[in-house]
Amino acid sequence: MSTNPAAVDSYWMPFTANRDFKENPRIIVGADGHYYLTEDGRKVYDAFSGLWTSGLGHCHPGIVEAVQKQVATLDYSLGFQAGSDKVFELAEKVTSLAPEGYSKVFFTNSGSESADTSLKIALGYHRARGEGHRTRLIGREKGYHGVNFGGMSVGGMTPNRKVFGSSLLPCVDHLPHTWDPEHNSFQRGQPEWGGHLADDLERLAALHDGGNIAAVIVEPVAGSAGILPPPVGYLERLREICDKYGILLIFDEVITAFGRIGEGFGAQRFGVMPDIINMAKGLTNGVIPMGAVMVRDEIYDAFMQGPAEAIELFHGYTYSGHPVAAAAGIAALDAYVDEGTFEQSRALEGHFEEALHSLADHHLVTDVRNYGLMGGVDLQARPGAIGARGLEVHKKCFWDEDIIVRNGGDILQFSPFLNSRPEDIDMTVEKVRRVLDTLD
Ligand SMILES: Cc1ncc(COP(=O)(O)O)c(C=O)c1O
Repeated sequence: MSTNPAAVDSYWMPFTANRDFKENPRIIVGADGHYYLTEDGRKVYDAFSGLWTSGLGHCHPGIVEAVQKQVATLDYSLGFQAGSDKVFELAEKVTSLAPEGYSKVFFTNSGSESADTSLKIALGYHRARGEGHRTRLIGREKGYHGVNFGGMSVGGMTPNRKVFGSSLLPCVDHLPHTWDPEHNSFQRGQPEWGGHLADDLERLAALHDGGNIAAVIVEPVAGSAGILPPPVGYLERLREICDKYGILLIFDEVITAFGRIGEGFGAQRFGVMPDIINMAKGLTNGVIPMGAVMVRDEIYDAFMQGPAEAIELFHGYTYSGHPVAAAAGIAALDAYVDEGTFEQSRALEGHFEEALHSLADHHLVTDVRNYGLMGGVDLQARPGAIGARGLEVHKKCFWDEDIIVRNGGDILQFSPFLNSRPEDIDMTVEKVRRVLDTLD
């Protein structure tokens, strides 16, 4: 290893078993297309396309060029009361991929910031319309909306919440999650069972009075919980109940936007239009951190009142709409269109589904789920060592099979490049099976 051990020791890594990692660090020094280059000189196939981020592949020439040019032209511009040309251009490009009726985009720097921004916009919207009493927020069990306090509060992943439980937002409830192995294990695509679980929103509306609820936030396909596609009719039912009570529906599309499920946005794929759409990751193909919140026109319009010189939304970040991130975003969105990336992704879905479900017969596999180019494979946990088997697969894949496979505990997660070839998918699954065969 050439990275100095003191340097390795200095870094407190995110969402990482630090002590375990530092015994044998997995350090990446380069990337090209579908491969990483490791510090020990190996080419490692990236079966997770970054962290759901890099669907076009790494170091995409068009994005690299745009970033290099931008950083030498306008490295930073303040974004309050002024803005770079690039951020306006990107906002228009984002809306050009969206269904009709969404023409305003607010920029953030991450998915977590998008989550908190969307919740604040929802509260501000109701207040601007004289309904400031609508303060209750509804998330979902197993939901993931990042790690800031708002997103954590509406999120439903226990390990992310348990230490911070007493400091989460008040006035938050959760819908039940939709995974029930008795009814929907080894499901291909959307489960037939579970649409009725959306009716729990009726229960919460009856409990609190629907007129006190500001917003419901869900991922159209839950990602970090291990890929939970929405049951048939579920999203439609949520939309219906939200409409009935004047509740805003927020789709957290940090993973599902930009081709991961074969369309610009998951809303289009499912034919269900939320009021607010959150995004990040694929917005710049992961090249520069950036997130965004896109709203229906009437939400923006509700804020546009009072004196014209008054700031309508007291919210923003120093790096909102950073020009270099915006240049990366423009180049990424151009590439999606020019290269037909969403269509490529859609065309690969069937092959991906078949390949992933071929693992179902392995004695350590307890469930397989997929939607679009998102896949989850559950492993039987080792007694008394939850997550150990998943981590072992990740490490063996990296060291012995030259491939990155992500584990979330004992769930293996798959996020192939949107422009993968069928043989890349086959190779991924073969390598994973080989590693599973070595496990006790
Ligand atoms: C649906 C969803 N929302 C929010 C986030 C948080 O994004 P970030 O890590 O960029 O803050 C993620 C990250 O995976 C996500 O999947």
